[in-house]
Amino acid sequence: MNYKIAVIPGDGIGPEIMNEALKVLDKVGEKYGHSFECTKVLAGGAAIDATGKSLPQETLDVCKASDAVMLGAVGGPKWDNLPGGERPERALLGLRKELGLYANLRPAIVFDELADASPLKPSIIDGGLDILIVRELTGGIYFGERKTEPGTEEEGMVAWDVEKYSEMEVKRIAKIAFDMAAKRGGKVCSVDKANVLDSSRLWRKTVAEMHAADYPEIELANMYVDNAAMQLVRGPKQFDVIVTSNIFGDILSDEASQITGSIGMLPSASLGEGNFGMYEPIHGSAPDIAGQNIANPIATILSVGMMLRYTLGLGEEADAIEKAVNDFLKAGHRTADLVAPGEEFKSTSETGDLIAALI
Ligand code: IPM
Ligand code: MG
Repeated sequence: MNYKIAVIPGDGIGPEIMNEALKVLDKVGEKYGHSFECTKVLAGGAAIDATGKSLPQETLDVCKASDAVMLGAVGGPKWDNLPGGERPERALLGLRKELGLYANLRPAIVFDELADASPLKPSIIDGGLDILIVRELTGGIYFGERKTEPGTEEEGMVAWDVEKYSEMEVKRIAKIAFDMAAKRGGKVCSVDKANVLDSSRLWRKTVAEMHAADYPEIELANMYVDNAAMQLVRGPKQFDVIVTSNIFGDILSDEASQITGSIGMLPSASLGEGNFGMYEPIHGSAPDIAGQNIANPIATILSVGMMLRYTLGLGEEADAIEKAVNDFLKAGHRTADLVAPGEEFKSTSETGDLIAALI
């Protein structure tokens, strides 16, 4: 088969890690007889420098005409002083909204070989950890009305952002969470702040109704977000699938990734209706180490695996990528982020070469 992939290397370490991911994708194509037609396009800081806009129309057009989008990372200190609406990060929000990618899947997995890397005690993560955070991605406060305006004389300026959810938005994200749980551990924990927020009360009620009507076999729990933040470090193994709003998911997914000890290893998928999706590592553009060939490309490589599985329906090929990454670790190889200072590690390009060779 021939597949069309839009590739957005982005800023910072983005281009380096994307190179390695494409190496691995090429190898999969060669081995399994697929051709991946990759078109590189600009978004984020690189696009601001080249076109003045963080998300050029051409980029959106190429993405919409593709089967899937692969993204490295966007942003960096060079663009930090731009006004909010013009920052590289806007490109990410714009891509999600324009491409209708309302569901963000962020797995937090402890790789057996890397159990030592977790900052949690072995007794807490013993036997492994495998949580899937399902974050709502195109609604809530990140897309609500907002304004900065003069208040009263006493107040000075005031600024506000609206958290708003419709039943439709909650239903479609809850459905994804229940469907995922049915294929995994059979448990969903819905996280909200229903003791304070109206939007959370509607969220909780909508999730409960869908559960009763369509997914009675799934175990559903509800948790306030502050408690969830605590439970993630206290007893992370109680979680299977966590479903939550855009802002809570943003925060909890960073926390969950850190308890695995290896944010450089975690991929993500952003999905909407149909099979189309955007795939990117969970980490950012790490400008401090850009251009040194020391970034860990594994999260981006595993994102390729998620793309093969969720968008292209190539489960065997996705398994091959995950196995190659595991074999790389089992062989004792480590990237710079996984070793103590002074210890030997594989460079970005060596890591890509070794993993591609293991496919
Ligand atoms: C993420 C990032 C983005 C988000 C930023 C860069 C807009 O933190 O993907 O989690 O908040 O969604
Ligand atoms: Mg985030």
